[in-house]
Amino acid sequence: MSHDRTVAVGGAHPYHISIGPGLLEDGERLAATLRGRDAFVISDDSVAPLYMRRVVDALSGARPGLRIGHWTLPAGEASKTLDGFGRAITAIADAGMRRDATVYALGGGVVGDLAGFAAAAWMRGIDCVQLPTTLLAMVDSSVGGKTAVDLPQGKNLVGAFHPPRAVLADTATLRTLPPRELRAGLAEVVKYGAIVDAPFLDWLEAQADALLAGDDDALAEAIARSCAHKAAIVERDPFEHGERALLNFGHTFGHAIETEQGYGGLVHGEAVAVGMVQAARLSERLGLASPADTARLRSLLQRLGLPVDPPPGLDADALIAHMRLDKKAQSGGLRFIVWDGAGRARVLADVPENAVREVLRG
Ligand code: NAD
Ligand code: GLY
Repeated sequence: MSHDRTVAVGGAHPYHISIGPGLLEDGERLAATLRGRDAFVISDDSVAPLYMRRVVDALSGARPGLRIGHWTLPAGEASKTLDGFGRAITAIADAGMRRDATVYALGGGVVGDLAGFAAAAWMRGIDCVQLPTTLLAMVDSSVGGKTAVDLPQGKNLVGAFHPPRAVLADTATLRTLPPRELRAGLAEVVKYGAIVDAPFLDWLEAQADALLAGDDDALAEAIARSCAHKAAIVERDPFEHGERALLNFGHTFGHAIETEQGYGGLVHGEAVAVGMVQAARLSERLGLASPADTARLRSLLQRLGLPVDPPPGLDADALIAHMRLDKKAQSGGLRFIVWDGAGRARVLADVPENAVREVLRG
């Protein structure tokens, strides 16, 4: 455990993010924030066969007599629905989880968002510990307390802010992650460089091959640096009244693509990669980022094996309709996170629809 890294998240509900190999076997750490004698582990049917037993054994080893329930959902974004939420709540109720129970979210962002929302809603809110097993969940979704499910009308439209009691990112789980999902997580890592940390972009360019090869040190550094950025931002703006919106760079385009594809095409990180390039191109059209900035971002994402162009055949009117219902939109008009080049982003309201259409036309 000597190689663990820790990032503190402050604010009204402080907690720690622990990053390192083997954390899922560390019963004391898993149990450290337990308040009662009930635990409920939620996972998906790809992650559970790999890691559920490990977590249940570690918890019961550390706290003999703990009542531990568990439930799994089918893997993938298509499970992050109101129906999936209802089934999670039913499983929690059937297991008789009491007011002082803790939900453990063991998996990627889909599990984290859905289990976190179930924890936020059960008995008006019980504890949740996030156990992210994808790179994307380690660097983004497990931190900051956003929980939600998707509707056919749009991504993450129903949810709650519910900060976790702890985040334990066991980096050894990344060894079983499919390469496509590792690459998808790298998109959110690049996002931090793009919006707030220009030297991190230089570092990512230098470390691209190591990251793609799954190098433990490079990945741990990328996770810790990303978490430090996310922690600082959510500490200052937990409910997204201001700068937290910058974390949505590329997401207005990306979410629209995911919704239009019925949550069965590009995975989230891939859609964000395409969305960041689209947002950079929009910024260029608005006289903000330079063509060289956009080319650099595009080239880094391509090197990391990510898509940078939208899938063919998507309807521009439908995409714009989805953008209007995106949570980042407000009643006034289209609102985007625009880019001023490496490490600099801001929110821009009332972006002319024509400029967005030109970007969508390519
Ligand atoms: P995911 O949860 O669907 O996981 C990707 C795939 O990898 C799944 O099939 C899963 O079963 C599998 N998997 C996970 N860990 C594994 C492991 N260690 N070994 C083998 N297989 C493994 O997708 P994701 O990219 O982690 O998360 C995407 C979701 O996160 C989206 O719904 C997105 O909206 C959400 N998100 C939320 C926030 C937030 O702040 N709450 C931020 C970013 C993204
Ligand atoms: N992923 C965006 C946020 O947490 O605010």
